[in-house]
Order: sequence, then structure tokens, then C-alpha cells
Amino acid sequence: MLIIKDISNLQSYLSAYQNRKYSIGYVPTMGALHKGHGELIKQSKKDNHKTIVSIFVNEKQFSSKEDFETYPRNKGFDYDFCIDNEVDILFEPSSEEIFKNDETLLKNKNFKDILCDKFRRGHFDGVITVLDKFFSIIKSNKVYFGEKDYQQLKIIEKFIEEKYKSLDLVSVPTQRHEEGIAYSSRNEKLSKKQTQDFVDFHKKIKNFIISLEESLDIETANHRANDFMKLQDIDKFDYFEFRNDTDLSFVGTVSQARLFYAIYKGKVRLIDNLKV
Ligand code: PAF
Repeated sequence: MLIIKDISNLQSYLSAYQNRKYSIGYVPTMGALHKGHGELIKQSKKDNHKTIVSIFVNEKQFSSKEDFETYPRNKGFDYDFCIDNEVDILFEPSSEEIFKNDETLLKNKNFKDILCDKFRRGHFDGVITVLDKFFSIIKSNKVYFGEKDYQQLKIIEKFIEEKYKSLDLVSVPTQRHEEGIAYSSRNEKLSKKQTQDFVDFHKKIKNFIISLEESLDIETANHRANDFMKLQDIDKFDYFEFRNDTDLSFVGTVSQARLFYAIYKGKVRLIDNLKV
């Protein structure tokens, strides 16, 4: 596996691939890799001749300096993980290399003022700004994202439709631990007790979802979701609601919906979504 830190070096390898007409799959990450990333890499390896993974903790998408500074970083493990998963190139640039002195922040216009965008103002502006840089440097054929960050996935889908028409977005279902909770880099920040509480909460959600009739309209399901949340021992939550899976509206029935939530365990913010 090649570990590359500068753009010019990366581009000379990529142009050699392109000259050979190799298809390139790209998996963008912020490191602290886990099984969820592993599935994205696996899918990219199935679909392409070469797979490139980037590790870049993007300061522009964090709302607080503290959250940025305490974001899990696991360099040695990540290198081994990429080697074990047979990644061809690991691109790990510095912030200067990516942004130079460019302070431009792109403004996301899609799926605004709902879910995470309502509670983490500017977060998705930071996400599309950094992806714009990476997409234009790497020029891959395909790019891979997980369904766990579902609103992010929908926003990136639109962004690609608008600006990178020849790039194919491939979405991969959320990977879950045996106990049901999704793999997430932020799980590393939970204590044992917090992890157990989170697992218990997840089981209750599953039972709650099973108790709903598929033909129920989303608005009624959301009244029930409110009642359900009143009974839970959660430190704080930003949202817990059903939305239509396609346009993230409140229109439709439970069978067309996902349950989206963002909850806190101590200081750790956890998000997930479950197809009903
Ligand atoms: O999902 C993530 O890890 C990040 O938001 C991404 C897409 C790598 C952009 O920094």
C-alpha cells in the first residue's frame, strides 16, 4: 500500500492508473476506521481496479474546537486496517495541502434546516467544501458513503448531481455490532456503561418500531415517537423522528420511512437511522 501525503505525488500515480484505463474507487474518511469503513472499501474493491482511501479530519465541519480536537484519532491502527483491507493508496494530506490559503466555504442548499443541519449549523457546508477539494484532486470513477450518515448521503448525492455528473455515488448499508448499534468512530468515546445504556436504548427502539403498523402515517408515528422518548433515560437529544426515506419530508406512511435520531450519552453525540 502506498501512503501519500502530497497532491502532486498522488496525481502522478493516479494518472498512471488513468492511462491504463483502470477504474478508481474512492472512500473518503476521517480515520478511526471500523467495520463500516471496511464495507465501503470491500465494495470499492469489488467494483474497481484500484481503491484509494483518504484520512482527513476536516476542521471545517466541526461546530466546536473541542469536538475537533477530541475526535478519535488512531493512526497506527488505521494504517494496519487499510493494509489488511488491501487498499491501494492511502491519501493522508495536511490541512495546508488541501485548503492552501483558500478560505472559501461552499454553502449547502439541500435538505436544510432539518435533522443535523438544524442542530449543527454549517456542518454540511464544511462537508461539501472538503469533498469538493478531494473530488477535484482524485477524479475517481466512483465514491463510497455509508447510510449511517443518511442526511449527509442525500446532500452529497445532490452535490454530485449538480457539480460532478460523471462521478458515481455508491451507498452502502449501515454496519452494526451484534447488539444492534451502528459502527461509529464516536463509539470509541463512550464508557462501558454508556455503551451498555446505548445498546439497551437501541433494543427499545427496535421494539418500538416493530409495534407500529406499516400503514400508519408518518405524522401519527411521530406523535408516538414523542411519547416513546418521554419515557427514555437519555441525557439529551436533538431529534427523534420519522421522515420519508426519499425526500426527508413528513409525507407518507411508516413503510416509506426511516426513524432518524441524534442523542447524547454524556458529551458524546450519536446519530443513527433505521429503516422501518
Ligand atoms: O463521513 C465522514 O467521515 C465525513 O463527513 C467525510 C465524508 C469524510 C467528509 O469529511
